[in-house]
Amino acid sequence: MNPKILIVDDDKGMCELIAAGLTRQGFESVWKTSAIEALEELASGNFAAVVTDLNMAQMGGLEFCKRTLEQRPGLPVIVITAFGSMDAAVSAIRAGAYDFINKPVDIDALSLIVERAVRAAELQAEVARLRKAVDTGTNFGELIGTSPVMKRLYALLARVADSDASLLICGETGTGKELIARAVHRRSRFANAKFLAVNCAAMPAQLLESEFFGHVRGAFTDASSAHAGIFEQANGGTVFLDEIGELPLELQPKLLRSLQERSVRRLGGTSEIPFDVRVICATNRDLETEVEEGRFREDLLYRINVIQVDAPPLRVRDNDILLLAQRFIDAFAERTQRPVEGLASSAAKRLLSYDWPGNVRELQNCMERAVALAEHNKVVLADLPERIRTHHPSKLLVTDDGPADFVPIHEIEKRYILQVLEAYGGNKRQAAITLGLDRKTLWRKLKQYGVS
Ligand SMILES: Nc1ncnc2c1ncn2[C@@H]1O[C@H](COP(=O)(O)OP(=O)(O)OP(=O)(O)O)[C@@H](O)[C@H]1O
Ligand SMILES: [Mg+2]
Repeated sequence: MNPKILIVDDDKGMCELIAAGLTRQGFESVWKTSAIEALEELASGNFAAVVTDLNMAQMGGLEFCKRTLEQRPGLPVIVITAFGSMDAAVSAIRAGAYDFINKPVDIDALSLIVERAVRAAELQAEVARLRKAVDTGTNFGELIGTSPVMKRLYALLARVADSDASLLICGETGTGKELIARAVHRRSRFANAKFLAVNCAAMPAQLLESEFFGHVRGAFTDASSAHAGIFEQANGGTVFLDEIGELPLELQPKLLRSLQERSVRRLGGTSEIPFDVRVICATNRDLETEVEEGRFREDLLYRINVIQVDAPPLRVRDNDILLLAQRFIDAFAERTQRPVEGLASSAAKRLLSYDWPGNVRELQNCMERAVALAEHNKVVLADLPERIRTHHPSKLLVTDDGPADFVPIHEIEKRYILQVLEAYGGNKRQAAITLGLDRKTLWRKLKQYGVS
């Protein structure tokens, strides 16, 4: 398929002339005599470049260039300027134009510029694609970690970033749920607009309602001016609903309705305001249990949980613990100008055997403190907090019992699985992640043990 070029000039004859010239050079072209129509055309067609006149009656070429780039960042725009008007050319380039050409237009020269522009844009897209492919191997955005669970997570995130589907990020505190949400936003088609977060646990229902949907002036006693809700403000971007499990039950039907209709009505208002946003929710509760216990609506769960992303707890990310610790030490040492370089092996061992209930955040705080306390160029045991220094790893398999108490290996497996399950308060999903089992396998084993 030949690259398609959009030509915009309020002089029909000029459009036809350029179109004929570009066709001769192997391009496909569409022309419009008004910038407004051209913008509509741009939204529907897949164009490789735009050629526009600068002096047009309704909407000038500069304004058109800006709007084009808002709609299609990176699309090459070539501007036709009046002979000798360098000022106009400079402002066009400032507005983001790829290049300019003077009148009277030399069609051959124009074709060359267009060809170069299209090739440059193709290369740029290819570089972006390759960079993305390379990145997803060992990191994703600012997420650090090379453990198998993290690599699986990066692959999933790379796939979901391209889609519009709602994400539900589940995981314990400090596992990086917000970091994941921001990284997905930056990789998505919503990256050019805002990422706005609301913590559903931090506000009473009434405030939260106006935060979501906005309000008109006078909607309630304190509403002295109108306020746009988060979906309106983030239009074209991402809304992050943190701790969605804490969302008051009375707000749930209204949020569901908005997500379904893709529009909001401000409190006290009458008109429906449409929005186009990616919704990402996060929770550290098990929402299926919340549904069973009547605290969360099942229909809302289905709506927000189109794709579920599990943020793995730090204790199942084995070697990532040391990798992250090193990164945090480097960062804090640099920030505080302290000559701390790494971990002594006794400290490293202790970090590996600790179970990190506060996950990455806890490790981060712990390293910040250690860098501040360190008396040498290494972090040693004494620089770690008391709870980690005195932590004793699970004694499950260490036994002083004699042969009479030895048991077959599957018995050990059963005890261990039940112990992990109990530690998670019966949450099978979390237990399966920690055990490295898929959910079905865990179910099957529990059934064997007669546990429902
Ligand atoms: N994989 C990671 N790589 C680097 N830094 C991380 C990673 N995961 C988490 N962090 C860091 O740990 C801290 C906690 O992350 P974040 O706030 O995203 O966690 P959370 O899951 O949203 O926690 P909470 O449930 O408590 O809100 C942040 O400072 C974040 O930058
Ligand atoms: Mg968070």
